[in-house]
Amino acid sequence: MKITVIHGTQRHGSTWHCAQTLLDALSARIQPEVTVFTLPKDLPAFCAGCFTCFEKGEDACPHAAHVQPIAKAILASDLVVLTSPVYAMDVAAPLKNLLDHLCYLWMSHRPDPAVFRKLGVVVATTAGAGLGHTCKTMRNSLKFMGFKKQFRLAHAVSAMRWEDVPPKTRLRIEKQAQTMSRQIVTAAANPARLRKPFFRSFFFTLMASMQKKNDWNPTDRAHWERHGWLAGKKPF
Ligand SMILES: Cc1cc2nc3c(=O)[nH]c(=O)nc-3n(C[C@H](O)[C@H](O)[C@H](O)COP(=O)(O)O)c2cc1C
Repeated sequence: MKITVIHGTQRHGSTWHCAQTLLDALSARIQPEVTVFTLPKDLPAFCAGCFTCFEKGEDACPHAAHVQPIAKAILASDLVVLTSPVYAMDVAAPLKNLLDHLCYLWMSHRPDPAVFRKLGVVVATTAGAGLGHTCKTMRNSLKFMGFKKQFRLAHAVSAMRWEDVPPKTRLRIEKQAQTMSRQIVTAAANPARLRKPFFRSFFFTLMASMQKKNDWNPTDRAHWERHGWLAGKKPF
């Protein structure tokens, strides 16, 4: 199984340890091929909001040299793991910055058919509050790109550092990681048995009808035409 892990901060703290617990649990069941990106090291520049990726293509993004290796790893993976601690009740800025850079892959622009069979995991920790909002930010990106199934490993750890996380909480994380690793391996082995997300089918159809009228962005429209999606071909 090919796995891409994207860490929203460079800290080897509670969030990193949660993700590592899951990777260890997966490694006990399969032999994963893991690619790791750490933010902001692997994407130091903020999205400039220049619309270049939408209008001229992702390779024309001023930060393509950093963004494209990450995007290519995502597209080549079976499983994508996004991690972030809760900062100000939401994801850490470096991860949000990557999510902004990847908006061209959303179904409202140029979804990649390879994404439609992928599994995702969002990993988050907080001292006390904000897990729901933080996970939703990460899940929204995977959902609007068209991921097939998502898992959530999220814990309130009541701590500023992993060493101070209470043993009971660590045990809960370990148990959830074990269960999740089994579910992921099963899902990856039987992709045809996974239910197609209703929202994805609905939103894709809606975006197809929007693209048929698209006279404002030839790059997006050409993408949909090239895949035959405006002639009724379905990607899933
Ligand atoms: C800048 C900053 C903002 C934070 N904001 C929140 C918050 O809004 N709510 C909360 O409960 N904890 C907040 N925390 C605590 C962290 O979410 C928590 O300690 C988390 O487990 C740290 O993850 P890490 O060890 O992987 O860095 C914040 C921590 C920092 C450094």
